[in-house]
Amino acid sequence: MIKPLIIANWKCNPTGIKQAKALFNSVKNGVKGIKRRKVIICPPFIYLPMLKGLSLGAQNCFWEKEGAYTGEISCPMLKSLCQYVLVGHSERRKYFNEKDEINNKLKAVLDAKLIPVLCVGETQEQRNQDKTEAVLKEQIISALDSISSSRFSSVIIAYEPVWAIGTGNPCDVEEAQKMKLLIQKIISKIYSSNISFKTPVLYGGSVKSNNAEGYVKEAGFNGLLVGGASLDAREFIEIVKQAV
Ligand code: PGA
Repeated sequence: MIKPLIIANWKCNPTGIKQAKALFNSVKNGVKGIKRRKVIICPPFIYLPMLKGLSLGAQNCFWEKEGAYTGEISCPMLKSLCQYVLVGHSERRKYFNEKDEINNKLKAVLDAKLIPVLCVGETQEQRNQDKTEAVLKEQIISALDSISSSRFSSVIIAYEPVWAIGTGNPCDVEEAQKMKLLIQKIISKIYSSNISFKTPVLYGGSVKSNNAEGYVKEAGFNGLLVGGASLDAREFIEIVKQAV
């Protein structure tokens, strides 16, 4: 059994180093006694070198290793600072029009021997139009284009319905479970059922301490990707407790 992975996505928060350290240390102390869990904090890039004692991830990366790309952060740069990288988060897709580059980013993360967390999910409009399955298929197939099964073996997938992110309107557990099975079916078609079975699939989208348990214990997700609630140490620690 894979240990549940509980990932905190701090997004563009908090605005100061002092608050970042305080939040991190509260979480670190609060989860100390909780066994059988893996907590990963994804803060803004600049806080990565300052935070020690829990696993860390980046929220994004650039696909080239180096060069004249103003403002970008490459995977070799991240290598000594963190272990995980979120790729294709819906906010990157929405505000930065990320689509085709997601495959390049995923490859760059794997090249650097970092662990990618590939985020996929449909919008409300796509769901209303009955396009959820097609959207998930397209997002997964395009992101994994020309990635061999042996390279894929370290990839983590996060199902994050866009309509559930930051809305306080989480996907219900039964529906989320269906989407997990669908994602596994897509992965098994690309690779094999054995590989699909071993791929960790996380749920994200308005996770709180009062709904965390269902995704892991009922729907069988291998962990959670938590946005808003991860900025409140007490609430996040409670989520970790509920999920293990
Ligand atoms: P949320 O965000 O928990 O605030 O809905 C989840 C995410 O964007 O990863």
